[in-house]
Amino acid sequence: MTTFIVANWKMNPSTKEEAVSLLLAMEKLGKENKKVIICPPFPFMSLSKNVILGAQNCFFEKEGPFTGEVSPYMLKSLGCNYVIVGHSERRNFFQEDSSLIRKKIEVLNDAKMTTILCVGEKSREDSDVVETITRQIESVLDGVSLQNIIIAYEPVFAIGTGDSCSAEIAKERRELIKEVLFEIDKNENPAILYGGSVDSNNVSEYIDKAGFDGVLVGGASLNKDEFKKIVDSV
Ligand code: PGA
Repeated sequence: MTTFIVANWKMNPSTKEEAVSLLLAMEKLGKENKKVIICPPFPFMSLSKNVILGAQNCFFEKEGPFTGEVSPYMLKSLGCNYVIVGHSERRNFFQEDSSLIRKKIEVLNDAKMTTILCVGEKSREDSDVVETITRQIESVLDGVSLQNIIIAYEPVFAIGTGDSCSAEIAKERRELIKEVLFEIDKNENPAILYGGSVDSNNVSEYIDKAGFDGVLVGGASLNKDEFKKIVDSV
């Protein structure tokens, strides 16, 4: 089984020099069964040839008059085969909804690239959490091949807050996600990651206790030493 450690740098760092230094530190972290995928901002994607590249976003067309957008095929030609889709920051700041997310997943499937689809409830008090997560998955994946899909369970309250979700709750959500995916396609078994304030102290809880296939790391992936510790702890 492969364990995934995905680094989501978000809109960081602000200079090329800092990006090069971070990339250099991350070049040798992965192993056969431990896949370290680095998702830098677009301008920094060509700065290292020695990491497995992921992107934080893409558009849903191959090419054309879409000012400011980036096509999955452009990413693929840079050697990037993974794209994060449906991150809560994109849903909130850019009003990305299910129909847009679905189009992105379809074009990524056409390009034979892997989608890392983020889902998760907004608040700890969400009494309809089963319905929320089920809808987030079904609305974008029903009728879609799951062959190139990874799910990242990211409870929004835990993102960037230090207020991570307990391993017990995360495990329940993982089981729910597995059931929903099983209903969509019984033959595929997509990897399920946890994201939201992951650090070197809590990472093993999500992998060993809660049974996730890996983690999506935001803030802590911008700190070389901390990120190395996370990879080492997996
Ligand atoms: P965080 O971000 O690790 O800083 O909470 C995770 C994410 O947004 O993917």
